[in-house]
Amino acid sequence: MQSSIELTSDCCVQYKYPDNDHGQFTIIINEKYSINYGYHVWPSAPILAQFISYYRSKFNGKRIIELGSGTGMVGIVAAKIGALVVLTDSHQYPQCLQLCQQNVDINGVNDNITAILPLTWGHFDEQVIQMPSFDYIISSDCFYNEKDFEDILSSVSFLMDKHQTKGTVFYTTYQERDSEWSIECLLNQWHLKCHYISLSDFETDNECVAKDNLSSKSTIHLLEITKNI
Ligand SMILES: C[S@@+](CC[C@H](N)C(=O)[O-])C[C@H]1O[C@@H](n2cnc3c(N)ncnc32)[C@H](O)[C@@H]1O
Repeated sequence: MQSSIELTSDCCVQYKYPDNDHGQFTIIINEKYSINYGYHVWPSAPILAQFISYYRSKFNGKRIIELGSGTGMVGIVAAKIGALVVLTDSHQYPQCLQLCQQNVDINGVNDNITAILPLTWGHFDEQVIQMPSFDYIISSDCFYNEKDFEDILSSVSFLMDKHQTKGTVFYTTYQERDSEWSIECLLNQWHLKCHYISLSDFETDNECVAKDNLSSKSTIHLLEITKNI
């Protein structure tokens, strides 16, 4: 299941994924040149998108919430393969939510993107409290600033606790930026456990994933985090 990528203009990138009928589906992501982190696709995103596309039968028809969606790239791939997805980003960056909406419109996935909402990690407003349960939580490149780690995991733990019957699973890709950083203590604190998934398990050796920077790939990891019950 190889995927590929094409630059269509200065700020639109096209990603191609195999579909079920040996054809391809394409997504187009509008990126903006800005210092805002959420305005472009980070190298961790195509890797998580490839994971979701590769294991599509696991995600098809499932309810997914994406944290720190940025351009919405990963959630849009999930929507394309049939998941029902809520995209979120910080209250502080409404422009990201607007960019997500633009990209959802461009890709015609409005039926499967069920909402685009502000969700700031570690903040539990009425909207978060009223949220339904999800089968999966996903995020790419959100563990980039150590000060946010506890907030992210507190939101994840809160969202997981909504699922009474079957455990919600959190898949997150991150780029290693400081070898001293660790989430181990926080995982214990929030009664979470994690394991690493090898990138070689799901054909990340393709153009789609290689677009940004081949050298960065060796520093990207995929974690599966669940409740430790
Ligand atoms: C490095 S970018 C990654 C964007 C996208 N997931 C990707 O991989 O291309 C981090 C994202 O987290 C969002 N973010 C930063 N701080 C946040 C917070 N406190 N709560 C929620 N989202 C936040 C940013 O707006 C941005 O979209």
